Amino acid sequence: MKKIVAFVGSNRTDGYSAKVVDQIKKGAESEGAEVTVFTPGKMNISACQGCMYCRQGKGCIIKDDDMTEVYAALDKADGAVFAMPIYFGQMSGQMMTLVNRLYPLAPPAGMKKAVTVYSHGAPAGMYQKYIDMTDPLFKALGMDVIKTLNAGLTSKMPEDQEKELLEAAFEAGKALAE
Ligand SMILES: Cc1cc2nc3c(=O)[nH]c(=O)nc-3n(C[C@H](O)[C@H](O)[C@H](O)COP(=O)(O)O)c2cc1C
Repeated sequence: MKKIVAFVGSNRTDGYSAKVVDQIKKGAESEGAEVTVFTPGKMNISACQGCMYCRQGKGCIIKDDDMTEVYAALDKADGAVFAMPIYFGQMSGQMMTLVNRLYPLAPPAGMKKAVTVYSHGAPAGMYQKYIDMTDPLFKALGMDVIKTLNAGLTSKMPEDQEKELLEAAFEAGKALAE
C-alpha cells in the first residue's frame, strides 16, 4: 500500500489548502493509498537553528519536537503534498518553518512524487513566478513535483472554477498513489 504524507500550511479548516488536500486524499485513497495529514501551524515545530548539524547526515539536532513524527512519516512515504497558502507573496510562515526543517532530507537518497498547492486571493496568474521558483526547490528535498494546483481568487472563486480545481485535486491524488 502506498503511503502519502500531506502538509496543510493554513490553519483554516475550511480554507482552500484544507479543501484541496481533502480531495487529493480522497483521490489517493480511491487508489488504495494511506494518507496522513499534518497541519504544521497546529504542531510544535521549532524554527531551524541554522547550525548545519544536519549536514553530518545524522538528522536534525532538535530531537524533541513534532518534527520527529514528520521525519518518520516521510521516511516511509512514497509521496507528499505541500499545500501553501500565500501570505505576503510567499508560502505561510508555518509552512516555511516546516520546509526549512526538511533540510536534513537534502541531499535525498531517492525521489518521491509530490503535489504542490498554492492558494491565494489574487487571480491565478499572479504568483506564477513564485510557483516557478518554489516548485523546483522541492527537488533538493527528494520531491519530484508531478502536479501543481494553483487556487486563485479564493475569497470569490467562481463555482465552476472551484469544481474544476477540486476535480484536478482528486486526479492529482490518484496520480500520487500510482
Ligand atoms: C497574513 C495573510 C497574508 C496574505 N497575503 C496575501 C498575498 O500576498 N497575496 C494574496 O493573493 N493573498 C494573500 N492572502 C490571502 C490568502 O492567500 C488566501 O486567503 C488563501 O485562500 C489562504 O489559504 P487558505 O484558504 O488555505 O487558508 C493573505 C492572507 C493572510 C492571512
